[in-house]
Amino acid sequence: MTGLVTTITETMRYKGAIGQWSWVLHRISGLGVVLFITLHIVDTSWALFYPELYVHAIASYQTPLFTIGEFFLVACVVYHAYNGIRVIVMDFRPKLWRNQRKAAYWVLGLTAITLIPVFILMFGHVLNFYRESSPLLGLGEVISAQLPFVAGIAVAMIAALLFSGLIGLFVREPKQRRRQRSNTERFWWSFMRISGLLIVPLVFGHLAMMHVLQGVFDLTAQGSTIVGAPGAINTTGTAVEFVATRWNFFVAGVAIWRVYDFLLLTLVVLHGFNGLRYVLTDYTMFSPLLRRASVYLSVIGAVVLLVLGGAALMGTIPQSSIDAAEQATQHLIEQAGLTPVEEGAPAAEATTSP
Ligand code: HEM
Ligand code: HEM
Repeated sequence: MTGLVTTITETMRYKGAIGQWSWVLHRISGLGVVLFITLHIVDTSWALFYPELYVHAIASYQTPLFTIGEFFLVACVVYHAYNGIRVIVMDFRPKLWRNQRKAAYWVLGLTAITLIPVFILMFGHVLNFYRESSPLLGLGEVISAQLPFVAGIAVAMIAALLFSGLIGLFVREPKQRRRQRSNTERFWWSFMRISGLLIVPLVFGHLAMMHVLQGVFDLTAQGSTIVGAPGAINTTGTAVEFVATRWNFFVAGVAIWRVYDFLLLTLVVLHGFNGLRYVLTDYTMFSPLLRRASVYLSVIGAVVLLVLGGAALMGTIPQSSIDAAEQATQHLIEQAGLTPVEEGAPAAEATTSP
């Protein structure tokens, strides 16, 4: 706790020191993306395991609250990526540290230059949607749909604390393993840098597909083409069909989007949750119980997401799930008091996107 208080007070006191602000922004943006991917990987697995719930999840993404969050998310990813590259370059070329002030401003400038056109394009998708449709879920429904995630995170925290308490009863902090631990830390230090560089093209490509080329609202646009699967059309206008089509799109016998998502999943989860461990252990140095719990929480989070996300990527989404998603969508449209799409009606007559 004292560590956290020191971070906040020193950051405020250190007015004008761009290096300190870069570090704080890097930390906050990394944590923001960790929180998002926790929801996102669980959500995406529903395309296979619980299609009706996936309809709700994507309908939540298409509400004002999530739209605002989406702009912040993209800003976090872009800033964190550029600043991460700055940190990596400085680590391997220590002589450049004397230019670190200038480099930090460059990172801010490049982030702004990237975000301006991206935000304009994203805003175009938002305007198109609100011109023709309205969200299917109200703010209350969107917030209450997040409660199971809050409960899940709370359960993971309690499990980590209990486990840490239990381990503390039987195991003493081993002094003689210090050397081995520092080797492990060296591995993670290198992993954070290598994985960071590999994530850049993967996550930028993913965001370009999901925000710029197609846009979150177009995941459920009936009759639209599906990004990354040339020639495929989203006939039901459901995100389940969108995901099923992409995961079943083969190039030279390889399901390229499954491989892509698998790489993204593994790198982002290991990098993000090891980053979470760095942050949590920084603020729990004073208590072995909490410090161990921080490590276990990061491990539990990573394992759950890797298993769930990996299982979804290995499965096959059946036609019955797409049909169930279509029905759930019609139900949501009726519930929202919008005109349901008649069976066989041309895509252009759809009154709402999902
Ligand atoms: C609102 C923003 C986003 C949207 C709308 C979105 C959309 C999607 C969709 C539709 C899929 C299904 C698979 C596919 O079609 O390829 C997917 C999978 C995935 N996305 Fe995103 N994405 C977003 C942001 C991100 C970000 C920022 C990250 C990483 C930092 C990310 C990481 C992943 C991963 C790892 C998977 C595979 C999940 C699994 O295996 O269950 N996504 N995303
Ligand atoms: C887009 C490419 C990315 C690059 C180039 C990158 C780079 C880095 C670097 C160099 C570090 C510092 C590691 C250290 O101190 O040893 C770091 C930390 C971190 N990263 Fe990333 N990263 C990227 C993506 C991500 C993503 C997608 C997430 C979330 C899932 C994430 C979450 C974190 C967190 C939480 C930290 C710890 C921050 C701290 O200790 O203050 N990063 N990243």
